[in-house]
Amino acid sequence: MDSFNFQAPTQIVFGKNTEAQVGALCKKYGAKKVLVHFGGGSVVKSGLLDRVCASLKEAGLEYVLLGGVVPNPLLSKVYEGIELGKKEKIDFILAVGGGSVIDSAKAIGYGLANEGDVWDYYSRKKTVTGSIPKAAVLTLAAAGSEMSSASVITKDEGMLKRGLSTEYAYCKFAIMNPELTYTLPAYQTASGCTDIILHTLERYFVAPSTKTLDITDMIAESLLKNTMRNCTYALSNPCDYDTRAEIMWCGTLSHNDITGDRSFGDWACHQLEHELSGMFGVAHGAGLAAVWGTWARYVYKENIARFVKLAMNVFGLPYNSADPEATALAGIAAMESYFASIGMPTNIHDLIGRELNDEEIRELAYKCSFMNTRTIGQFKKLTIHDMENIYRLAK
Ligand code: NZQ
Ligand code: ZN
Repeated sequence: MDSFNFQAPTQIVFGKNTEAQVGALCKKYGAKKVLVHFGGGSVVKSGLLDRVCASLKEAGLEYVLLGGVVPNPLLSKVYEGIELGKKEKIDFILAVGGGSVIDSAKAIGYGLANEGDVWDYYSRKKTVTGSIPKAAVLTLAAAGSEMSSASVITKDEGMLKRGLSTEYAYCKFAIMNPELTYTLPAYQTASGCTDIILHTLERYFVAPSTKTLDITDMIAESLLKNTMRNCTYALSNPCDYDTRAEIMWCGTLSHNDITGDRSFGDWACHQLEHELSGMFGVAHGAGLAAVWGTWARYVYKENIARFVKLAMNVFGLPYNSADPEATALAGIAAMESYFASIGMPTNIHDLIGRELNDEEIRELAYKCSFMNTRTIGQFKKLTIHDMENIYRLAK
């Protein structure tokens, strides 16, 4: 990579009981009245929300609560947050939850700092010029939103899921206590780790003409191996602190650009998946596992050497000098077997419980191509026709 951009402006406060510092940290970043945003109730049940509120009170901060964010967060909740934020004159948003809650908080932050309908920014009609400050108490290692420039929102009408990446998206700080992830159901742990793996793979598969730095590739390969090893262990040892800590930090590093500037990454699987989770409400990571193998087999000939590198450096597979393509394909199969071993679907049938019909395939590809106005992917540029093929082949 001849040139790249790297910025990681979020303060990370990592470790046991770090949520007790949340009030002081909000104050440090200028908060006076905080919107505490959360999801469907896991943080109420675990007592985390009470601890967060106690810390805010102790720091002398006012706050209002807004829960009810659903996985694949909805625009309607964002509108509710913007309205509440204006009415209550809030000046800081604290997301307590996973990627969906953090993304919803980011969208509310945009809505409070920019004129007009916030969806116009997600649908690329307008460009954001700022956000009110926000921060996160992370409860799920997955999306990496706690240190990423991205947020992804689904418009209720038409279930259109759209991502937006800006320099104003970054959290001021993120509290990361691995103990907070002990209560995750196994499926969410596995889905989260799949997302972490995919954030790394998307950056690994750059355009064939793009040269990558060895150090960046080595970080990516280590991150993949570490996430896989620890995810497998966490599934039978959900309350092992060290394992949860490894996964949590991998989640953040997988998406803060240390494994590669996101703008050089492929991202086709993410684009294909966003339409699936927008339309069927499935867990994002599981949707990624369902399409990755099909995508990989569809595109690997663009740069067989890159897939060979993955096979050898991540899965320890031997190089078949007489048939490098066989090594590349063995690496793809190894990645798929890993997903299956942690209970992830490796096709769309296993993801949604049935096969897609033709009409759905056309609708997914149409939405994914932004109504046939764009291609996706950099490793191989995919047209709407390719998108249909991949959805069809992934069944
Ligand atoms: O809503 P609650 O009750 O909190 O339950 C959540 C939710 O049902 C539950 N959960 C979270 N922490 C828990 C817990 N349950 C028990 N114990 C805990 N400690 O997990 C479920 C899923 O939560 P969600 O936030 O939806 O998961 P995730 O963190 O995987 O976020 C997924 C969203 O992030 C987007 C995805 O598209 C999806 O909408 N992404 C955001 C990115 C970004 N902003 O940079 C990048 C990603 O590629 C991704 O696209
Ligand atoms: Zn993702």
